[in-house]
Amino acid sequence: MLERPYTLLSCAMSIDGYIGSPGSRLLLSNDADFERVDVVRSPQLREERTARGVRPSPIKVTVTERVMLDPHANFFTAGDVEKLVYCPSTRVPEARARLEPTATVVDGGERVDMGGLSSDLAVRGVERLMVEGGGMVHTQFLTDDLADELQLVVAPLFLGDSNATRFVRDGHFPWNPGQRAKLADVRQVGDVVLLRYALSSRFRD
Ligand SMILES: NC(=O)c1ccc[n+]([C@@H]2O[C@H](COP(=O)([O-])OP(=O)(O)OC[C@H]3O[C@@H](n4cnc5c(N)ncnc54)[C@H](OP(=O)(O)O)[C@@H]3O)[C@@H](O)[C@H]2O)c1
Repeated sequence: MLERPYTLLSCAMSIDGYIGSPGSRLLLSNDADFERVDVVRSPQLREERTARGVRPSPIKVTVTERVMLDPHANFFTAGDVEKLVYCPSTRVPEARARLEPTATVVDGGERVDMGGLSSDLAVRGVERLMVEGGGMVHTQFLTDDLADELQLVVAPLFLGDSNATRFVRDGHFPWNPGQRAKLADVRQVGDVVLLRYALSSRFRD
């Protein structure tokens, strides 16, 4: 069994490095790129997974500390797939009352850390994890050196608002001025560009 799933971080950002705008829904990518990301749910991949004896559709996973998630949100209602919610031990009773049986609440310990979450997913048979953060979530996977691949889409626009959310927050990243990441591929997808970075020796082309 793998210690942790092959972990791919996927994110779209503006030219000036922002991924979201407070209070409004920001469309950074284009239809062709949404289709590329959505390929994980394609009929062909579902058949391949069934043939390999694994779940036909990927499970969905989220993390929460405050446990204010809406059980009627699209994340919980869409798709007939297992949904896992990791939260700190102290919040488990509240999360179970709020979200079960729609989702399975997992005790993430004193503080949910992405290493523990990744190991737990491996135990549950997850071989491949696609992380669609938020800057806070991406930062934790990157600074804890838990990512094998980064797929970064750059949209042809500026946000120009320092209140917007950046791709990552402050932290000590394994890739820095003294240790550059490996750029594995560059691809144009309509009006956006997809950059693929290999972040570990497990990177699969
Ligand atoms: N462009 C893109 O590809 C893309 C993709 C996704 C999101 N976004 C944008 O990103 C922005 C949000 O990013 P963000 O940096 O504010 O946050 P984030 O990475 O989305 O994480 C936000 C929430 O995740 C939970 N969380 C994170 N780490 C946790 C931990 N260790 N333990 C428990 N819970 C944890 C917390 O939930 P609770 O508050 O429930 O405790 C936290 O408020 C939004 O504007 C969104 O639109 C952009």
